[in-house]
Amino acid sequence: MPRIAVYSGSFDPITNGHLDIIRRASRVFDHVIVAVADNSGKNATFTVSERVRMIDIAIRDIPSADVDSFKGLLVDYLKKKKARVVVRGIRAVSDMDYEFQMASMNRQLFPEMETVFMMPADNYTYLSSSMIKDVARRGAKPGDYLPANVLHMLKKKLHAPKPKTKTKKRKR
Ligand code: COA
Repeated sequence: MPRIAVYSGSFDPITNGHLDIIRRASRVFDHVIVAVADNSGKNATFTVSERVRMIDIAIRDIPSADVDSFKGLLVDYLKKKKARVVVRGIRAVSDMDYEFQMASMNRQLFPEMETVFMMPADNYTYLSSSMIKDVARRGAKPGDYLPANVLHMLKKKLHAPKPKTKTKKRKR
């Protein structure tokens, strides 16, 4: 049986820190599915299909990894893919409380699954997608932390004209 791991997250957008985890996981598992959650409840900058497309390009040199998206419970997605392992990155101790809560809930819902925690390289310890977007919005260059195609997409997104919101005329 191939050992399949699902690396789930919102990936809004994927960063080099996420890629670092995908590479580490691909050395341990036969197949790594990067699964973009379609219901993370966050106010996303990129649509799910944009995130999937960016990841697809960013992981091209990792043959055992591919990308997908899912709706609903992560454990249902695991069952659908016949996977038993979720990979999560732990950047610092502060991640642990939230991660343990998720791992524990997932295990209660699907006792046969395991969550495997991996540590990214030190230079990605304090990285997050929101921080990168904030830095880019304020004009700094987050180039070292993003794959080239993602940096390109982020610049396009930040400089795109905002859609005009219709204002209703008040009836007198
Ligand atoms: N490098 C860089 N950043 C990293 C990182 C790494 N190695 N690891 C985590 N992060 C950052 C992410 O960029 C993200 O930053 P942001 O908050 O600024 O966007 C943050 O850490 C946490 O992100 P992520 O790993 O994407 O977790 P999440 O909380 O957004 O998503 C889901 C968690 C979607 C996987 C989880 O909610 C889920 O499985 N949902 C499905 C529904 C479900 O099954 N619920 C029950 C289980 S609890």
